[in-house]
Amino acid sequence: MSLGSRARPRRQDELAASLRPFSGLRLRSGGFFVAPRIAAPLDPIVRLEGVSYSYDPGAPEPLWALQGVDLAIAPGEYLAVVGHNGSGKSTLARLLNGLLLPTRGDVWVGPWNTRQALHKRDVRACVGMVFQVPDNQIIATTVEDDVAFGPENLGVPEEELQSRVDEALHAVGLWERRSRPPHQLSAGEKQRLAIAGVLAMRPRCLVLDEATALLDASGRADVLATVRRLHAEGVAIVAITHRLQEAAEADRLLVLDHGRCALLGHPRDILSDTDALARLGLEAPEVPELAARLRRRGLELPAGLLTPGELAEALAGQRALLR
Ligand SMILES: Nc1ncnc2c1ncn2[C@@H]1O[C@H](COP(=O)(O)OP(=O)(O)OP(=O)(O)O)[C@@H](O)[C@H]1O
Ligand SMILES: [Mg+2]
Repeated sequence: MSLGSRARPRRQDELAASLRPFSGLRLRSGGFFVAPRIAAPLDPIVRLEGVSYSYDPGAPEPLWALQGVDLAIAPGEYLAVVGHNGSGKSTLARLLNGLLLPTRGDVWVGPWNTRQALHKRDVRACVGMVFQVPDNQIIATTVEDDVAFGPENLGVPEEELQSRVDEALHAVGLWERRSRPPHQLSAGEKQRLAIAGVLAMRPRCLVLDEATALLDASGRADVLATVRRLHAEGVAIVAITHRLQEAAEADRLLVLDHGRCALLGHPRDILSDTDALARLGLEAPEVPELAARLRRRGLELPAGLLTPGELAEALAGQRALLR
């Protein structure tokens, strides 16, 4: 897979540069004009501009699942999304690749507005989705055929199809199981199969909506390792999760609250602010929670402790001071 060749912004100035808007204009006719320019490599992959979504927009007082969200996802970045039940995470995920269209505002995927019916396939190929229940995404009778289904539908020529399928199966570690019926796979393997199906469409961004929620510890570890590897190879990741500790390894963390962006920043800053998390109905991960309790008992610990190792080191420093 040619994933390794993609640029992956690391420095802050690169990330900031990547957040420049696309040059799309809405026409009075309701259509869109997209300036015919070649996208700079660091243009965002997905950009939400003032996006609101209601499942009942015609109601006298519509309920808003998402309200006024502005967000740009840079090439190769790892964005984690958390929020209490019903905060709008899955709605956001479905807006990212045009499964839902905004009630207000616009979603741009590369140069395409998701409202452009003509580019629906391009949008879906660029932003792949993996859901919580892999069985719903499994279609074919063998692992291999299942992975081929997506690119086949995109019209990928026969001669390219096999190489795409092989690459995707290698990427998720299922190549040896390619002839098996999918129902014989474990839950974690099925989820990796779902990821392979998306990868075969060569997406620039992979959106995982609680993709590890139903897996046991080992299935979860396998899927997370696959996601980590894809990220290292340059695929942008949007990972929706209820496990705040999983969000710690992301480049940025978005916290949704009643359909609004409540916090957006570095996971270390957000996850260690236990009071802010509690106000948003979220339980802080164990280490920041324990560090906060120890601080309340008078220990002077630095901010931003996330891992047991960091906490142990900070406590060792305290012991040295008390001696
Ligand atoms: N198909 C639907 N029809 C009507 N309302 C919906 C529908 N799907 C979601 N909603 C409502 O939209 C809001 C946001 O839901 P969403 O599923 O996006 O939240 P979530 O953060 O993914 O929740 P969870 O953590 O439970 O998965 C909620 O108030 C929910 O009840
Ligand atoms: Mg959800």
